[in-house]
Amino acid sequence: MNIIKITNNQFQLNTKSTSYVMHNENGFLCHSYYGKRLPDCDHNYMSKRPMYRGSAQSNMSKNLPTLDNALLEYPGFGEVGITATAIEVLNSDGTNFVDLRVFDYCIHNGKPKIDGLPASYAEDGDNVQTLEIKTKDAISKVEVSLFYAVFYDYDVITRWVKITNNGEKAITLLRALSGNIAFDNRNYDVISNFGTWARERQIERAPLLHTGSVVESNCGSSSHYANPFMIMAEHNTTENSGEAIGIALAYSGNHKMSANLSIYNVVNLSGGISPDNFRWNLNQSESFSTPELVISFSDNGLNGLSQNFHKLIKNRVCRGIYRDKKRPVLLNLWEACYFDFTDDTIKSAADSAADLGVELLVIDDGWFGKRDNDRTSLGDWNVNADKIKCGLESLCDYVNSKGLMLGIWFEPEMVSPESELFKKHPEWVMQINGRKPTETRYQLMLDLTNPEVCDFVYKSVADVLKTTNIEYVKWDYNRTMAHIGSSYLNPEQMGEYYHRYMLGLYDVLERLTADFPNVLFEGCASGGGRFDIGMLYYTPQIWTSDDTDAVERSEIQYGTSLIYPMSCQSAHVSACPNHQTGRTVSMQARHIFALTGSFGYELAPEKIEEKDREYIKEFIKFYNENFDIFQKGKYYRLSNPKTDDYAIFEYVYEKRIIVGLMRLKTHALNFQTNIKLQGLDPNYIYTDKVSGERYCGSQLMQFGLPVNTCRNKNDFYAKMWELY
Ligand code: GLA
Repeated sequence: MNIIKITNNQFQLNTKSTSYVMHNENGFLCHSYYGKRLPDCDHNYMSKRPMYRGSAQSNMSKNLPTLDNALLEYPGFGEVGITATAIEVLNSDGTNFVDLRVFDYCIHNGKPKIDGLPASYAEDGDNVQTLEIKTKDAISKVEVSLFYAVFYDYDVITRWVKITNNGEKAITLLRALSGNIAFDNRNYDVISNFGTWARERQIERAPLLHTGSVVESNCGSSSHYANPFMIMAEHNTTENSGEAIGIALAYSGNHKMSANLSIYNVVNLSGGISPDNFRWNLNQSESFSTPELVISFSDNGLNGLSQNFHKLIKNRVCRGIYRDKKRPVLLNLWEACYFDFTDDTIKSAADSAADLGVELLVIDDGWFGKRDNDRTSLGDWNVNADKIKCGLESLCDYVNSKGLMLGIWFEPEMVSPESELFKKHPEWVMQINGRKPTETRYQLMLDLTNPEVCDFVYKSVADVLKTTNIEYVKWDYNRTMAHIGSSYLNPEQMGEYYHRYMLGLYDVLERLTADFPNVLFEGCASGGGRFDIGMLYYTPQIWTSDDTDAVERSEIQYGTSLIYPMSCQSAHVSACPNHQTGRTVSMQARHIFALTGSFGYELAPEKIEEKDREYIKEFIKFYNENFDIFQKGKYYRLSNPKTDDYAIFEYVYEKRIIVGLMRLKTHALNFQTNIKLQGLDPNYIYTDKVSGERYCGSQLMQFGLPVNTCRNKNDFYAKMWELY
């Protein structure tokens, strides 16, 4: 198997269905091709595309060495005609120029780690190789290794760079993106997510114009507003056909994903740490590694592209026992009681939840310090003895005795000004000396650039996990960063703050997940405000949104599914009327749409009416029996819930199919539709588990699964099919 093929000046990276080809021209590493798999023949003619655009007028000088026609893999700042910049350095002479030329390369079997950063990984026996192409600036002695990890069976290539200062004097990185791919425009659309609290990851698709497209966050986290990925799809690409390239950053901090289109029709698609307020000092011999950029191509439409990302993230980003193990059906008590509970509340919830078949009970915010509302106690991670009089250990014993695991909420990166921690360590706050930091939700942030603070954060969580049988942690993060400053760093390091914060956070998460391998960590950031590949390396599931309304969730989970697997998206059935929207949706609809995620509940179990209890018990049984379909199956978006009358999804795992539908818009006559299924075996005879009806795969894919909602005029009518 030829994963990496190198001939003369050409580098060809092959996955099962794609090829990525580059060539070395005059030392510049140039892009030749990324797309559908090419045969193993000579592609040399591709590299004959002139780098320099000649003049159309024959009497004009031929001496036009501008790089505006060059497809550079890692463009440095400052050469004539450069239309995108991946690296910019403040050299010791005060200039910013970088001229990187290839001088060597090597192939690593498997995939090297990236120091201190989350990244995809290879396991023994995986068909994964990594190409390292070494480039350097001969004058400044800046050396940049470009890494390309090729996941053959996943149709994914990942990129990152390591920058080393081999000069004698200190330099400062002003921009260090993870990678750039340059190619000729083919009528591309840019697809990305925008959002906010309770409305995360809405999809936007628009043609790439010469004004360019940017998805960027500078608020310290990957954010609700701009998820760190970008998809370029040909204008005719649909969910199930056509070509698309996606890039997604394995990073939870400030980021910038951008696509620009030059006047000469060259697209530069790049991603990495946002250069805004980024400076990184490199003394002699010091190195800096960027986060990883995950790249995939599909000619099977957007569903095909999403499935490539899903497969990699599920299997080679998520780690720990819960990567493969069935996730427990959890019941979170936040919407059931908010801050208003005692140990008796939890105990009676445990009794009732156990009877329903729930496996994990989660106590959310309010169990610690003097936390009766959101104004106090973040940082004081000792039990609130007024509320939990029996203590955490004994509460845990009680919950365990009912056959349930117990989970708990933390927001470890924060501190309330009204807390013991703040009194003791005001200097641990992220703040600018001499200015009063702005509170958000009555809280400030801890300075995770300071290793002592990181140790405290580690210990806050570890002490609870060591002394109790808590088996789940919801790791929340409820504000954005501001007033960036530190009493620990010196003034020259302030431009490093945002990235150092992430390194501190990742270090704490690495230690905790290693020391407590049996604990399920779930990410959260005011809902889904930090939903990215970086966090998924530590927390195999993330709370997708604080909006638990099934109709809203059908859109949020739809947008999230562009890159992120459904099993990483926590989705809960909540009470009606819904707390965020006031909408009432049937039990069926709420359950079916919580299947497009890691399934659970967010309500008071003892308040569930008797008539619904049987439904819930049966549904939990069904979920547990079919967990492998949801965890391992391929997920297809079959409709667009924003524009279509129905929200429809499909899971395919071997010969087992689950289809879910919810009617979003009711018209007087819209009662007949056929759902064209995807990804079936055309010759296999599938049986509907309930009706016993039999269909062959090609019928279901070409004519479709008939749906008649004539007799169901209820709003948000929902139905699920099991075919096998
Ligand atoms: C955030 C989370 C919620 C809940 C509250 C608790 O908003 O997203 O799920 O945990 O905090 O304060």
